[in-house]
Amino acid sequence: MSFSPRVFSGIQPSGDLHLGNYLGAIRRFVPLQATHETIYCVVDMHAITVWQEPEALRRATREVAAAFIAAGIDPKRSIIFNQSQVPQHAELAWVFNCIARIGWMNRMTQFKDKAGKNSENVSLGLLAYPSLMAADILLYKATQVPVGDDQKQHLELTRDIAAKFNNDYAASIKEQGLGTEEGQFFPITDPLIAGPATRIMSLRDGTKKMSKSDPSDQSRISLLDDADAIAKKIKKATTDPAELPGDVEGLAGRPEADNLVGIYAALSDKSKQDVLAEFGGSGWGKFKPALAELAVSVLAPMNGEMRRLLDDPATIDAVLRDGAERAGAIAEKTMNEVRSIIGFIR
Ligand code: TRP
Repeated sequence: MSFSPRVFSGIQPSGDLHLGNYLGAIRRFVPLQATHETIYCVVDMHAITVWQEPEALRRATREVAAAFIAAGIDPKRSIIFNQSQVPQHAELAWVFNCIARIGWMNRMTQFKDKAGKNSENVSLGLLAYPSLMAADILLYKATQVPVGDDQKQHLELTRDIAAKFNNDYAASIKEQGLGTEEGQFFPITDPLIAGPATRIMSLRDGTKKMSKSDPSDQSRISLLDDADAIAKKIKKATTDPAELPGDVEGLAGRPEADNLVGIYAALSDKSKQDVLAEFGGSGWGKFKPALAELAVSVLAPMNGEMRRLLDDPATIDAVLRDGAERAGAIAEKTMNEVRSIIGFIR
């Protein structure tokens, strides 16, 4: 027995999806459908680690599902669902809370950033967040997880949890015949980390990540922006006065130029070098309109499809329900095995 290739990834429904979420994650999920079994999850249980208005959470959950579909994730080929509809995620997360050590959680840089000086007064769920993430992945024995590079540390923790479970329960796994030849019950999952071209920065400040929490709406392109808004934001994006360099080295120390070239490269599936081979020596008066046209050609049809889907929430909910049933079948099989490995009577 060995693990068959299976991809899992998750996106939080915390409102206002933007170009960074699309190029850094959702767009990269699409081609994996051709080569892997693919499971894409809207992680609503992760979202409530910080307060969410209930109606806003419902809307944001449907928005992520609509973005998946509009971007080309086929709900028949892939499994698309929201986490809370498959209660085994919470059940396995509890088991992992008893495998992982508090020190592992306290070391997570995302926790430290989010908790700040307030670490005594954030939810316990925020501290345990990576344990739920490990449950998401390992419930499906996923072998690959496409994520942005900010999630690398959480993926390493997932690997540590899998290895500790495999080790702590090695005898029981063997006795029940539930391991691979090497005695593994859970795979040691590989991250598929996005390259630097998919780290999308603010349109106002090339040194800051594009983020939904930036107070300036001009700093990001929302996936719900129409053609007009997309083009305007690109034309107004902050730049430096120099023309575009002929090679990637010339982008060093020019964060805004680097970001816009990176966006062009990601949207056209080219390397930055290829983009500069075409535009090196051009000024912004030439490059920005070309980028605006490209962005509109990719994003405007997606935007239309997202709006159409969001006008018909019953259809989105049916996709999520169907996905939850298919995910639930895999999840229950794993959980049954976990229960008997641990020694729970059923
Ligand atoms: N923590 C991820 C993020 O904020 C979201 C996430 C939750 C996830 N569960 C996952 C990503 C499982 C990959 C696999 O981006």
